[in-house]
Amino acid sequence: MNSFVQYLDHLIKEFLAIYRALEISGPPAGQDHIREVQAKLLSLGNNNPPIRQKSPEEKPVCRYLDAVRCEGNRYSEICDIFKNIVPILKWEYGYTSMPEHLYDMYSYTEVIGPQGNIYVEDIVMGFVLLAPCCLYPEHNHPGIEESYLCLSGNVTQNDNEELSPGGYLYNSPGKTHRLSVAPDTPCLLAYSWLAEPAVLKNYSMSLL
Ligand SMILES: [Fe+2]
Repeated sequence: MNSFVQYLDHLIKEFLAIYRALEISGPPAGQDHIREVQAKLLSLGNNNPPIRQKSPEEKPVCRYLDAVRCEGNRYSEICDIFKNIVPILKWEYGYTSMPEHLYDMYSYTEVIGPQGNIYVEDIVMGFVLLAPCCLYPEHNHPGIEESYLCLSGNVTQNDNEELSPGGYLYNSPGKTHRLSVAPDTPCLLAYSWLAEPAVLKNYSMSLL
């Protein structure tokens, strides 16, 4: 477990470095979000965050993990850390019901957060893995700000927001969005959620 603790510590630092860089290079929309994520990560890294032993669990989409390629984009360091912590990740669906095809093509894992490997109440960070050609249906998260970092693959949000490796996307609270993944490679996104702790705790997602 010790080496995993080091990787998790490294993950916090690397996410912090990425969000610092986004303050300079990121889009104007969501700059408050970028600064708030930084503040949460800084405080988390300085306060010896509690590490929780979770029971690792895979989902069918994990068959694409070996096909995830992040070399050469600005999130490759995050991706390397991700690959090192795969053995301790618990992959989940987060929906009580969802379309049949998604069971094979989608899953997420919360690494930082109230249900994360690193326990904290006021931010959630983790990874979403989507199969090639996955259509992730329309949904929103009332009261939750969301940002995505695209580590691998190409994905389009709402038909007009293209996200490619190294890209960043901000969704304001309650914004309705759907994703469609290009056919060539699986898509690995890192996501951040900011909301009141009461909202983040045991949040259950539902599709529209
Ligand atoms: Fe979302």
